[in-house]
Amino acid sequence: EKGNYRHFMQKEIFEQPTVVAQTLGSYLRQADNSVALPQIDFDLSAINRITIVACGTSYYAGMVAKYWFEQFARVPVDIDVASEFRYREPVLEDGGLSLFISQSGETADTLAALRHCKEAGQTIGVVVNVPTSSMAREADLLLPTHAGPEIGVASTKAFTCQLAVLAALAAHMAVKKGRMSREEEQEVVRHLLEAPACLNSALDHDDDIASMAHLIAPARDVLYLGRGPDYPLALEGALKLKEISYIHAEGYASGEMKHGPIALIDEDVPVIVLAPSGPLFEKTVSNMQEVRARGGKVVLISDEEGLEEAGEDCIATIQMPKVHPLIAPLVYAVPVQLLAYHVACVKGTDVDQPRNLAKSVTVE
Ligand code: M6R
Repeated sequence: EKGNYRHFMQKEIFEQPTVVAQTLGSYLRQADNSVALPQIDFDLSAINRITIVACGTSYYAGMVAKYWFEQFARVPVDIDVASEFRYREPVLEDGGLSLFISQSGETADTLAALRHCKEAGQTIGVVVNVPTSSMAREADLLLPTHAGPEIGVASTKAFTCQLAVLAALAAHMAVKKGRMSREEEQEVVRHLLEAPACLNSALDHDDDIASMAHLIAPARDVLYLGRGPDYPLALEGALKLKEISYIHAEGYASGEMKHGPIALIDEDVPVIVLAPSGPLFEKTVSNMQEVRARGGKVVLISDEEGLEEAGEDCIATIQMPKVHPLIAPLVYAVPVQLLAYHVACVKGTDVDQPRNLAKSVTVE
């Protein structure tokens, strides 16, 4: 039931602090700030390569996770969309973990890729929201997200819960491989446990986002920019806007702008910049200035420090809490979801059941 919400998508966006806390609760032990994964029947420390396969929003969760697996566990990660994966004849060596991410656990392309990897002798890990799904049944390592049923076609809470699980897995793997000390593990766990409160502070800006939606609704094209682990969030923001508001949107790595897309910039193309303050901030801001110098209209999503430094001359800003870089992708998911949601409401589209889309894509 939708309760007091207008749409399931809206309800599911607002459930995130609760369901992310629930998910974290099943993977982290608060008593000693450690990661506690379910029983694993294989040696995680022997994994020498990770292959991530997924579709849509789940694929973007995988893209974020690649940064974490490489940074924490120093394990090389390949990542593909499922529909491309099998047909490029991937090299799957012994000792590899293939990781499939899916809300439904039934997406045909992802399931076919899973079976392919299984046949090739890979260890199969799955991150799914439906614990009784086909993917869950075929896994060697089942890592459920505890987001609860997701009804809106646009995936929201499943995404942030996937990120929570993947961060825990990356940290656990790093510990097992001797790449992360006990102190570092505690620190990672502490930061992850801050996520639900930070998600709440992000949700506090719902009204601000609703009141700026009319700036985006008339656009024909919208660009999203981000760097590092926030680059997949730019892709996710663009996907959310496309699927529910039917506005053409693209996400780019900020640094790629000058390699082509900047040619699109004029005063009719809003550019949404995701830039938490931190090591990558200055670089993103300089890409943002390139956009502004060409008459582009920028919406900057950053924290207080970032907005103070670079918020001037933007057509709108959205303030996020100051967060540790590890949880920024979870927290910055909220404004991109809300922005897409409110723009779709302004346009009057069918938010929960957008045209041409199904919740679960069970054909290849
Ligand atoms: O159930 P899955 O996570 O495997 O679904 C994958 C995609 O179909 C899904 O994320 C889709 O892109 C969503 N509509 C995005 O909001």
